[in-house]
Amino acid sequence: MTEKPQGSVPPRSGDAESGRLLDLGAQLLVRFSALLRTARTHDVSNQAFRRQLQEFMGVLQQVMEDEDEVALAAVADYFYLNGVRLKASASLLTTYHALIEEFERRALGGVRILHGVTPAEMERFLQLFMASEDPALAGRLPEAVAEASVEHIVLVAAADLDKDDLSRALDEQDPVGERGRAKKMFWRAVLGTKRIVVRAAQSGRPDLRQAKRLVQPIVDSIMKNEYSIVGLTALKEHDEYTYAHCVNVSVLSVSIGQALGLPRQALADLGVTALLHDIGKVAVPGDLLRKPAKLAPEEWKVVRRHPLEGVNMMFRMPGLTSLTLDAMRVSLEHHLNFDLTGYPDVEHEWGQATMTRIVAMADCFDAMTAHRAYSHRPRTPFEALQYLLGPARVQFDPAVLWALVRTVGLYPAGSVLLTSSNHVALAVSPNPQDLRRPFCRVLVRPDGTPLPEDAEETWDPMPGSESVVRVLRPEETSVDAQELLAA
Ligand SMILES: [Fe+2]
Ligand SMILES: [Fe+2]
Repeated sequence: MTEKPQGSVPPRSGDAESGRLLDLGAQLLVRFSALLRTARTHDVSNQAFRRQLQEFMGVLQQVMEDEDEVALAAVADYFYLNGVRLKASASLLTTYHALIEEFERRALGGVRILHGVTPAEMERFLQLFMASEDPALAGRLPEAVAEASVEHIVLVAAADLDKDDLSRALDEQDPVGERGRAKKMFWRAVLGTKRIVVRAAQSGRPDLRQAKRLVQPIVDSIMKNEYSIVGLTALKEHDEYTYAHCVNVSVLSVSIGQALGLPRQALADLGVTALLHDIGKVAVPGDLLRKPAKLAPEEWKVVRRHPLEGVNMMFRMPGLTSLTLDAMRVSLEHHLNFDLTGYPDVEHEWGQATMTRIVAMADCFDAMTAHRAYSHRPRTPFEALQYLLGPARVQFDPAVLWALVRTVGLYPAGSVLLTSSNHVALAVSPNPQDLRRPFCRVLVRPDGTPLPEDAEETWDPMPGSESVVRVLRPEETSVDAQELLAA
């Protein structure tokens, strides 16, 4: 094989040149991901594939204009292009995390593409990359590429990657602490949920075992009183929101359950039932669910069937356990309210299960703050909380409503806060020790100067000397809360 220094990708500091790399890096990830998607469904001789390959080579050439090579490394959940960390902006989030997973699945640390690479080599590399989807072949990918005489593409196994330089850079800028771990867990859960939903649509029944596996780390984290993952539920503007909604409802439910004092096993079961609460939607035509306008009465009737469809799907699961029964009940009742308004129609003596009351609360809070094309703008999490505690409160069990406030705090993640010292800060995660003082990222200093993007200043949590004077509305500020939460 080739010479050794392939593993070392020196880090760089932020400068004009790295700005260009950031921009091209984002394009490269988008193109690479599109290329993989096309390669999954089309033969390499197909027009669509050729077009994608051409686009990818185009971006590659642009990077090469100023660089000796294109070295894309995946370290600790971040991509680095020639040593510059690529940010996962809101629009890039899902592509980014799906690609990280592709690398991880193959135990791949990085790809170096050298000057002189040809489309034919790229094509060969992609074929091998796709073939290594199989876990038995995954670890062999670097060898396979070397053996296939793809001379201008060198793969570095994760184990061989010289992480020192990179992880040092990472430690300085963005400690891979609790929040970093939470992000990883969150995206893993979103992608895993996507797989569960897609498979359920094909097989007609959800995979309960998979769901349990996804929920376990969430429960562990919340039991350890680590709440960064609760803050991540504030991320709404990305193209996998449908699946993230299930994860958000699961995370919020587990956290509400913990505030109510439920034991670990009950929390784990609650998390699974919450993750699957909307599974019946796979039986509803997608264009109805995505319709950007108000639904006609007969369309609405179809959508309102999803709680029952969910129960039907769960009946098809093998072996009837108490967890299956709980999941059925939560699916059936999650659009019922505490005052028994909502749907489906039930008799007056019907008692909504405690689990469902929790899931219904979490579902409402999450859905209210999500983007809907036909409303002028989604409610901010703070506005949602005001609404739930105000006019909507009769629809919820008061104890569960209280536990929601314990869970998300008085200024939920995503709120832009003006403080008593005239700072502007973004709430990023709740602080159960003091509901009025969340963990924050400082955005603007008292003299009005915004903090530079790379000089991240945080309050972990907001100090006791500060208090919130007002929550800013999106119209009043240029802050892109979604973009900052994603970073
Ligand atoms: Fe629903
Ligand atoms: Fe839902």
